[in-house]
This record gives sequence, C-alpha cells and structure tokens, in this order.
Amino acid sequence: MILVTGALGQIGTELVLALQEKHGKDKIIASDLKEPENYDCKFEKCDILDNENYERINKENGVDTVYHLAAILSAAGEKNPDLCYDVNVKGLENVLKVAKKYNQRLFCPSSIAVFGPDVPRENTPQNVELNPKTVYGKTKVKGEELCDLYFNEHNIDIRGIRYPGLISWKHKPSGGTTDYAVEMYFDAIEKGEYVCFVNEDTRLPMMFMDDAIRATIQLMDAPIESLNYHSNYNLSSMSFSAKELADEISSHVDFNCIYKPDYRQDIANTWPISIDDKDARSDWGWEPKFDITKMTEEMITNLRRLNE
Ligand code: NAD
Ligand code: SER
Repeated sequence: MILVTGALGQIGTELVLALQEKHGKDKIIASDLKEPENYDCKFEKCDILDNENYERINKENGVDTVYHLAAILSAAGEKNPDLCYDVNVKGLENVLKVAKKYNQRLFCPSSIAVFGPDVPRENTPQNVELNPKTVYGKTKVKGEELCDLYFNEHNIDIRGIRYPGLISWKHKPSGGTTDYAVEMYFDAIEKGEYVCFVNEDTRLPMMFMDDAIRATIQLMDAPIESLNYHSNYNLSSMSFSAKELADEISSHVDFNCIYKPDYRQDIANTWPISIDDKDARSDWGWEPKFDITKMTEEMITNLRRLNE
C-alpha cells in the first residue's frame, strides 16, 4: 500500500490521481490534517506530529511506500516559524522512524529554497554550500540531512527532488512564495486583474505540475544503482520573470497586472533564478515537456473550462 501525506495540498491533489492511475485506486491511501468531503480515495485524517496515529495508519494498512508531502511552505513559514520547524522537521522525523521500523520506501520533497543568496543564482549547481535565509529553507536543508542519515545509516530507500515553483490549475496553492505565478492565471481568468506580490523583474525557476508529477514517479521508478543522489535532486524546466509571465498570459486573456511587492519579495530575492539539473537528466533520464508557452495554453484552457 502507498500512503500520501499532505494529500490535499497542491502536489498531493495531483499525485494521488497519478498514483491511482498507475497502481489502482485500492492501493492508495491519502492523508491530511482535515477530512475532505466526497473524496474519491481511502482517506486517513492524521496530524503528522501525532506519532501514534501515524504509526497506526501505516501498521494497519501495511504501508510499504510513503510520499511525504505534509509541510508548511515558505511564506507561511516566515509568518509562523515554530509551526514550520515542527511540521517540516519533527513531522519528518516521525515519518523516518516509521519508515525504518516497517522498512518502507520514501519520497520526501525538498525545494529550491535550500539555496541561499551566496550561491551562483544562474544555473545553480547541485553541489553548493546550502545557506538559506528563510526558516522554510533551513527546515528543508535539515530534511535533506535527515534523509541522507536514514539512507546511509539505516539503509532506507529515500528519494527526493528540489522542486522549483509549481504551477497547476487543479488546486490553487497558498503559503508559498511562488504562488504569484499560479494566482496570476486564476485572477486573469476570474477577475481580469492581478495584484502581484513580487516586482515585475522577479525571475524564479518554475515547472508545470504535469512535469513535476512525472518526474516524481520517474525518480521513484529509477533503479537505485543509477542514483548518485537521493533526497536532493536539482530539477529544472523553465525560468521567467513575473512580467514575462504576465505578457504570456496577456496573449490569451485581456488582463491588467499590478505589481505591489510585499515581504515575499525578500524571500524570492534569496532564491536561484535558474537551476542546473544535469544529474537528474543523466541519472534517471529527466527531461521536461512543458515550456512557458505550452504550460500557459494548458492553464488557460483548463481554467476557462472550469469557469464556464
Ligand atoms: P501544500 O501547502 O499545498 O500542501 C501541504 C499539505 O500538508 C496541506 O494539505 C496541509 O493541510 C498539510 N499539512 C500541513 N500541516 C500538516 C500536519 N501537521 N499534518 C498533516 N498534514 C499537514 O504544499 P505542496 O505545494 O503540495 O508541497 C508539498 C511538498 O512539496 C512540501 O514538502 C513542499 O515543501 C514541497 N515543495 C512544493 C513546491 C511547490 O511549488 N508547490 C515547491 C518546492 C517544494
Ligand atoms: N513553491 C515553494 C514556496 O514558494 C518553494 O518550495 O514555498
């Protein structure tokens, strides 16, 4: 059985569907803090900090693989650093202990937030000193270290990707710094106007969710002998400024984008502009399918359909 924690979030919403498609609906258990209504999957309500309940779910269901997505993202983490540390670090420790006890395979995502402002911001390499400035980034570095420890000391098969900002239409994100890129699409369609919380020159690495889900499954399917890294693969597909995104959306929708940077600008300023993902490409054959043009066509088509 496969368990997905944080299953109601931006990635979980789509990963559960993809895993159901690949393994069959009855093989997937979704889990999150709150119980959803009309959810088409076996569901277990669980706070990742509740050790006992988390272990019970794993034991009772014979879980052998966990996709651990429960987390607090960057902008929410700056507002609530204690919660961010607890969920992202203590929560992960619970997941790792259970993975060790039941010899599970584990997918645990990291983020471009592990990088600080002192690394090369263009084509940021896989191996650089990690010195993030945000609470979230620090918890993600700690997460990579814990995963490495469990891989090396306890022989647990743990894999993970440093996702760029993810763009999707099935679930509107909240609590992240890269959320502006998703919100811009939603508001362009729904309101004809978007107030963007970073300035027009802000350029960050981004990826369409379909590519991110495909990468996740591809990494988990890769033979372990081919992997030179485990919980921390750099991954890349596109980088663009907020203005370039607004212009791309404007070629489909008549909308006005106003730039009013807030505290999230300071977070964005410390992150890479683009990522070098040559190890993901050579170790497990990663190749993105979506660029900004193809992604925008997909986003606009689907959001228009949902708003009809
Ligand atoms: P999200 O915020 O959309 O979803 C996270 C989910 O975790 C939410 O449904 C939330 O209810 C749940 N959660 C929070 N606290 C919990 C707790 N105590 N117990 C159980 N569940 C809890 O996040 P996401 O975008 O789906 O991200 C998933 C993972 O991917 C995270 O580790 C995140 O750091 C990483 N990531 C995401 C992005 C992105 O752009 N979405 C980029 C880089 C890395
Ligand atoms: N998209 C995420 C965020 O902005 C990056 O990890 O928090």
